[in-house]
Amino acid sequence: MGVIDLFCNSSSLCIDRPKPSSNCNSLRRSRITFMPPLAASSAAMSIEEESQQESSSSLTGDSFIRPHLRKLSAYQPILPFEVLSTRLGRKPEDIVKLDANENPYGPPPEVFEALGSMRFPYIYPDPESRRLRAALAKDSGIEAEYILAACGADELIDLIMRCVLEPGEKILDCPPTFTMYEFDAAVNGALVVKVPRKADFSLDVEQISDVVEREKPKCIFLTSPNNPDGSMYILLYLFCCIGLHILSFHISYLTSFFLLGSIIDDKDLLKILNLPILVVLDEAYIEFSGIESKMSWVKKFENLIVLRTFSKRAALAGLRVGYGAFPLSIIEYLWRAKQPYNVSVAAELAACAALENPVYLENVKVALVQERERLFKLLKEVPFLNPYPSYSNFILCEVTSGRDAKKLKEDLAKTGVMIRHYSNKELAGYVRVSVGKPEHTDSLMKSLKSLY
Ligand SMILES: Cc1ncc(COP(=O)(O)O)c(C=O)c1O
Repeated sequence: MGVIDLFCNSSSLCIDRPKPSSNCNSLRRSRITFMPPLAASSAAMSIEEESQQESSSSLTGDSFIRPHLRKLSAYQPILPFEVLSTRLGRKPEDIVKLDANENPYGPPPEVFEALGSMRFPYIYPDPESRRLRAALAKDSGIEAEYILAACGADELIDLIMRCVLEPGEKILDCPPTFTMYEFDAAVNGALVVKVPRKADFSLDVEQISDVVEREKPKCIFLTSPNNPDGSMYILLYLFCCIGLHILSFHISYLTSFFLLGSIIDDKDLLKILNLPILVVLDEAYIEFSGIESKMSWVKKFENLIVLRTFSKRAALAGLRVGYGAFPLSIIEYLWRAKQPYNVSVAAELAACAALENPVYLENVKVALVQERERLFKLLKEVPFLNPYPSYSNFILCEVTSGRDAKKLKEDLAKTGVMIRHYSNKELAGYVRVSVGKPEHTDSLMKSLKSLY
């Protein structure tokens, strides 16, 4: 990596011998600004230095920040559990937390054992996460060389953008969807071209093709199942259910052929993969959909990346472990650009331990999927909610009958039940409820009933 030494003989950042060039002015001014007040007043100052000090008095810290970041709005994360607990005046265990799609069952017992007997927390972790990638290769059926682990799928979204996008280049986003794509694009100085989803949350593939041709975005982020809807098209869902009774032997064919909504079917994905664009397929919730991951497709498609996470399936959101499958021609550059110790010792230990108990992971998934169906039926009975059938661990609900979605979220929070509300225009009037344990559903329903 080159370091440009504009006017110094040494590598000492030209603090002592600045030349009067315009490039150097900011460095000189910043030096004067940070001079301790006493030293500054006692030093005999030249006129030039005095006038520079005057002009530097208007210099504030944000002058150093890159211009595009000065305009950045902060990502709105959820409140930490302890803060929430204090605000609500309730113990953490008395809060029904259905606002961030976390997995309330927690990880398998092996994870707690592994963390409790961690031997080398004082040694830096394996920069290649070798143990974890070997375990993931076994779990996913794709070789470890295609896999990169990270500090959550979130880190990979940012890393991909850092490796792919020049400032001013474009990404294609299909809202409503996970807002981190737009946020990370802004952080990386990229522009966002949007092709909104259709009313049933399915992708508008025709529009996507047109926009790729016209705007030439470098990459597209696709979430399947999508967050926040996680849905499939209800009429076809019903059709498939009816089909199950009439044509039971054809059901798997029918569902894979007719799947619509936010789950991307193979036909659409292939169409998009044929475009000159890097496709990042985010499968954060794939385990709850019953649909197979597309991780192995990265061996066939040079323009496909598939992202996965331990946050949902293995309930390790707090430890931050995500992973992705990449074509070999791309992964090489991510290895070079990533932070060397991005997966902590604790995170790698925990993820490996979680994968040692696939039966537990499967049972938790089944419990959440069953609870999702019960929650859906109960939400349908609420007179001011219109829930969308979901293939994830959350359910999106339209708030109807003149009720205000934000007020609903606030009223529920007062009863200790947290749900997600949206301030963006596409989802004004919607709330999202994560699937919890049966007792969480019961508490939510009790609180909702108190509001009828
Ligand atoms: C669609 C989607 N992708 C990625 C993530 C982030 O996953 P991680 O916790 O691994 O960073 C989330 C988190 O909610 C998500 O909804």
